[in-house]
Amino acid sequence: MKISKTPKESHVDDYVYKIFPNDLNSQGTAFGGTITALLDRIALVVAERHSAKVCVTASIDAVHFLAAAKKGDNLIIQAKINRSWTSSMEIGLRVKAENAFSGECHHILSAYFTFVALDESGKPTPVPSVLPETTDEKRRFEEAGHRRTRRIRAAKEQDEFRKSFPSK
Ligand SMILES: CC(C)(COP(=O)(O)OP(=O)(O)OC[C@H]1O[C@@H](n2cnc3c(N)ncnc32)[C@H](O)[C@@H]1OP(=O)(O)O)[C@@H](O)C(=O)NCCC(=O)NCCS
Repeated sequence: MKISKTPKESHVDDYVYKIFPNDLNSQGTAFGGTITALLDRIALVVAERHSAKVCVTASIDAVHFLAAAKKGDNLIIQAKINRSWTSSMEIGLRVKAENAFSGECHHILSAYFTFVALDESGKPTPVPSVLPETTDEKRRFEEAGHRRTRRIRAAKEQDEFRKSFPSK
């Protein structure tokens, strides 16, 4: 296994998905669940390329729908690893909606997915570290560290909150 890999070695750049009528919600815009499932698959590809292991989604801690995508739009998706720890990896995704005819593009969604690499017996297993190269990659690497600290703190607080209720 490589000790470290750059984000470029595993990224998915400009994956294009055309919105068809079966992708719409009752409002007539792209259904969020369909987009989230698509992002989960693309982020999984990045995680498995980086780790060279089978990976599972551990959490999705931020999916921000900033604007709607419409029937006929092209979704353009970029996915890159931000940082890895022992067995887990944070993948950041950015989605733009492109009007197929005018070419006009707008940012509609950003998300962070955490994946865990598994060994043959299904146990978490070490992954290569991330070697950020560009200024943006270095910023995302640092930000991912802050998000992990917040994730761990939030999980602990929830645990303590639950324990404060008497169990049946
Ligand atoms: C994710 C999973 C493998 C973690 O297993 P676990 O026995 O709890 O593992 P550990 O407590 O030893 O933690 C292993 C790593 O997972 C990370 N992790 C565990 N739960 C997490 C969560 N909810 N969010 C983010 N990271 C998480 C830990 O931080 C740790 O990372 P590190 O090794 O980089 O420090 C396990 O909970 C699982 O299998 N969940 C179901 C996954 C699934 O079915 N996904 C949907 C289909 S793909």
